[in-house]
Amino acid sequence: RAEVVTIPVVVHVVHNTDEQNVSEEQIDTQIAVLNEDFRAVNADLKGVPAVWQGLVADARLEFRRASTDPQGNPTTGVTRRHTDARSFSDNDAVKFTARGGADAWPADRYLNVWVCQLGGGLLGYAQFPGGPPATDGVVITHTGFGTTGTATAPFNLGRTTTHEIGHWLNLFHIGGDDGTGCSGTDFVADTPNQAGQNFGTPAFPSITCNNGPDGDMFMNYMDYTDDAAMFMFTHGQILRVEACLAGPRRNLVV
Ligand code: ARG
Ligand code: ZN
Ligand code: CA
Repeated sequence: RAEVVTIPVVVHVVHNTDEQNVSEEQIDTQIAVLNEDFRAVNADLKGVPAVWQGLVADARLEFRRASTDPQGNPTTGVTRRHTDARSFSDNDAVKFTARGGADAWPADRYLNVWVCQLGGGLLGYAQFPGGPPATDGVVITHTGFGTTGTATAPFNLGRTTTHEIGHWLNLFHIGGDDGTGCSGTDFVADTPNQAGQNFGTPAFPSITCNNGPDGDMFMNYMDYTDDAAMFMFTHGQILRVEACLAGPRRNLVV
């Protein structure tokens, strides 16, 4: 696929306090980050170690607020709803009007993004392709959403949404989700095998699982480092994204 694919996005803002009712501007800063990260035009790419510069991949995806709602009417691509819930968890309540959240728009036509207060330090979570349409999409805590307004360091560069959309496009954590073991895999050939997740802002090289001399690719979006420390996808990861968009999420490609 040479051409850029545009993904229509609906943002469901589910708020208990006025602060959680994030501004249009905060939403736009998040969309802007996605449009840099998924085109590999983000300024911080220059921080990729020289040995991995050749692996940096352009996903050729563009994210745009939906302009037509499921009924065919014009929309800003944002829904807003007050909720009595003080916070949400990963139990998907935020995805249902009847549970204090907001119902999904048809998942074969829209990327659903819910923005709310998540509890327990959870920044966000995603549903992988192949799951139920009613819960499909990503959920992001408002303090980790966009780059302005309530976005709070060190998660104020919009990378939680980049990471969760990575999962939504079938990418696994580069640590392989086997705790701190060395036998898990992300099923991607060009990401080094690494032990657990990295946090904060590691220094290069950070070696685990005998992956020297270059070590962990902790600056990958699918690690757990701070927003300022994650800034690349690899060609191998984008092969999985392509397969997802040609397979389970093909209806989104119009
Ligand atoms: N699901 C992960 C969590 O909530 C998201 C990690 C995102 N990392 C980041 N630097 N924004 O912990
Ligand atoms: Zn994750
Ligand atoms: Ca591992």
